[in-house]
Amino acid sequence: MSRYYIDGGIPLKGENIVKGCKNSVLPMMAAALIHKGVSIIENCPDISDVRDMSDILRSLGCVVNYDRGTLTIDASYVDGDYLSGEIVKKVRISVLVMGAMLARKGCIRMDYPGGCRIGKRPIDYHIDVLRSLGANITEKDDCIEAECQALKGAVIYLPFPSVGATENALIAAAAAQGTTILRGTANEPEIHDLCVMLRKMGADISNFRPGKIIVRGKDSFLSARHHLMSDRIVAGTYAIMAAACGGSIRLQMDNVYAMTSLSKVLKQMGCIVNTGNDYYEVTKKARLRAVERIVTEPFPGFPTDLQSQIMVALCLADGKSTIEEKIFENRFQVVDELVKQGADISVFGTRAVINGCKRLYGKETTAKELRGGAALITAALAAYGQSIVTDENDYIRRGYENIENDVKGFGGRIYRD
Ligand code: UD1
Repeated sequence: MSRYYIDGGIPLKGENIVKGCKNSVLPMMAAALIHKGVSIIENCPDISDVRDMSDILRSLGCVVNYDRGTLTIDASYVDGDYLSGEIVKKVRISVLVMGAMLARKGCIRMDYPGGCRIGKRPIDYHIDVLRSLGANITEKDDCIEAECQALKGAVIYLPFPSVGATENALIAAAAAQGTTILRGTANEPEIHDLCVMLRKMGADISNFRPGKIIVRGKDSFLSARHHLMSDRIVAGTYAIMAAACGGSIRLQMDNVYAMTSLSKVLKQMGCIVNTGNDYYEVTKKARLRAVERIVTEPFPGFPTDLQSQIMVALCLADGKSTIEEKIFENRFQVVDELVKQGADISVFGTRAVINGCKRLYGKETTAKELRGGAALITAALAAYGQSIVTDENDYIRRGYENIENDVKGFGGRIYRD
């Protein structure tokens, strides 16, 4: 459990080198399973999701080592075929191991995966994709059993551009027999980063353009070394902190193009956003303006993973804003906590209406999921007085290596115990 003690109301100023991307490294770790050898991922954040995924790979027989940002996965020997227990329930992305294990061993049994409680998060797309590639999958009450003689290329249409299902399909298809044509795929930068890593491993992936990917399966792979791109959600969280607290923050990062939808909103709110090839800078001087309508959508739309954080900034804007959450059905969990701090927010199903107020107040709040937790840190930094954010399940550390050090680097007063 972590408790964050925060003295709010101080404008933030400073620089941060944004760490590698959580949502890129996790699928890459699953992808490492298809290669009978070593894969190396550099610029890897030291976060609990990576540690948990490392344990999942170890339980299958891999040797996984993390040393100062470099993650080494030796999947020369993979002898496990059953993933069970708390760890699978905790890390939803463990479902990606299914495609990789079917390719590698022809079988896998696993408990149903979990993850942050932000919605129903079923895995039907994953199962359909793997069935299309030739897997026999039995959904039991407590676990899923999957097996195949060999995965075979297929034409697959995803009904929704699911990030995880696209990744599962890519990994499995890379090691399937024949050609797979994927339609309706997600187009998140993390998908692109996974394709780059898979290509370095020797996978034949082409026609990578929005919604369509062609994969020609291979039966062996190469040892690859990949440098992770920056985490656009961590960067976005800090950019929004500057908007909510005032001041000026410069983020050193490499995939600045991935921030476009956030930049648009921040500019609408009256912030100054400056970008270059390797930096992203946000300055807030005047009172924030409300934004009539923000809709969370698949990339390049506004990311659901920044929805709670932008809500905090909108609480302090002049006027009425609305947010429509179109990706997950239970992603307004911060609302009750923000209301305690003086926010005026009403929720109507998947729509939140935010009437801006002059000030939030320091209170005791509770993190209920990863990004919501980061939003509460943001609210506490922007609030008048002292706040305590309790994160009983350490959700925040799943995705932020050391949020309190980063915030201190911006001059924020924060202490964790
Ligand atoms: C990934 C990200 C997460 C982000 C999300 C949307 C990782 C580790 N996590 O999650 O941070 O918020 O993308 O950008 O990369 N769905 C189904 N059936 C399925 C799969 C998904 O109905 O089999 C639904 C989900 O419930 C959700 C929507 O599709 O409503 C999008 O989910 P998806 O894109 O798959 O998100 P994740 O891959 O879980």
